Amino acid sequence: MTHEGLVPVIVLGGTGYVAGECLRLLLGHPSLRVESVASMSREGGAVTAAFPHLAGTAADAWSFTSIEAALGSLRPGRTVGVLAATPHGATAAILDRLLAAAEAVGADTRVVDLSADFRYPDAAAYEAVYGHAHGAPSRIAQFACGVPEHIVGAPARHAAQPGCFTTAVTLAAYPFLAAGLVEDDVFASAVTGSSGSGRTPSATTHHPERHADLKAYSPLAHRHEPEMRRLLAAASGGREPDVQFVPHSGPFVRGIHATVRMTLKADHSAEDLAALASRFYADGSFVRVATTPPRLSEVVGTNRARLGVAARGRTLVVTSVIDNLVKGAAGGGIQWLNRLLGWPDDRGLIVPGPGWF
Ligand SMILES: NC(=O)c1ccc[n+]([C@@H]2O[C@H](COP(=O)([O-])OP(=O)(O)OC[C@H]3O[C@@H](n4cnc5c(N)ncnc54)[C@H](OP(=O)(O)O)[C@@H]3O)[C@@H](O)[C@H]2O)c1
Repeated sequence: MTHEGLVPVIVLGGTGYVAGECLRLLLGHPSLRVESVASMSREGGAVTAAFPHLAGTAADAWSFTSIEAALGSLRPGRTVGVLAATPHGATAAILDRLLAAAEAVGADTRVVDLSADFRYPDAAAYEAVYGHAHGAPSRIAQFACGVPEHIVGAPARHAAQPGCFTTAVTLAAYPFLAAGLVEDDVFASAVTGSSGSGRTPSATTHHPERHADLKAYSPLAHRHEPEMRRLLAAASGGREPDVQFVPHSGPFVRGIHATVRMTLKADHSAEDLAALASRFYADGSFVRVATTPPRLSEVVGTNRARLGVAARGRTLVVTSVIDNLVKGAAGGGIQWLNRLLGWPDDRGLIVPGPGWF
């Protein structure tokens, strides 16, 4: 069903980096309107005090509300979008409360969860990765998880955006697994900017510790690795490929650069492989493929992904760049919300990047 007119949106996790990106993108969206921005820490405060770069726009009129106040705006039959930019572990219970309130009044609510809480098909799979009980197991079946480019239509009422590393790596590997050209064995190394760690500083994300350094963390043990296996299984006839993932903390703020190595079953030229991936993504606006390695500066600030294909003998290497806060979170979330509302994926999301940042 396609929704007409302006659809109001509730943003949860108000002062966080991802929520800030949701607000920035929503300010330019022709069919979505920010209804409320819920914050636990700054209720009543001006949104532009947390995000001075949004001042001088409609955001000047916005104040953070409580989650309860946001729920109070649900009305019978009214369509409301929700972007949940709250931490994993807390999000499921918040969304359960929100959805129960929506059901009680008969509101038509479409949720996109940007946290990890609805990325797994059942509570046991979630609990195996996150080590705590799921906050709303009965809601899991209402969410479809995937990169929008890899899913046809909207298979559930709500959506869960995959993790930012997962997005960068699966965009690179999916077309080749789906075409049956590579073995079920994917090595991925990726470098992320510091905004991937959110707003709260820690010893490892503090600027002096990070700005001129580079290090791997959680090699072969990162929480996004099982997500990658699960989502890539859809391309591999249901078999989970053996994904080996090594993430790194990079000395920049925004963006993910992933290098994904796969083994070809037969020799192919880089040109033919790039053409195949280009055809795979041709229906969408955001993913473009070349035989030259992409740069972060081509995508930062945008919902784009750029893939670069290289091949020699049986070795295939795909480099993949996205903005972790946009394609990996807020932009991918709005792309999903567009889809859930029956609109083109790219509505409001075709924005030029700054190039330098
Ligand atoms: N950063 C990225 O690149 C990225 C990429 C993909 C997905 N994500 C996911 O997106 C979500 C937000 O990430 P972020 O980087 O924006 O994190 P963040 O900067 O730490 O923001 C999260 C916000 O959630 C609110 N919050 C904190 N604890 C809470 C709790 N117990 N219950 C409810 N709300 C709470 C806080 O806002 P208020 O005090 O204003 O309520 C906080 O600012 C996370 O689930 C993260 O994993 C992040």
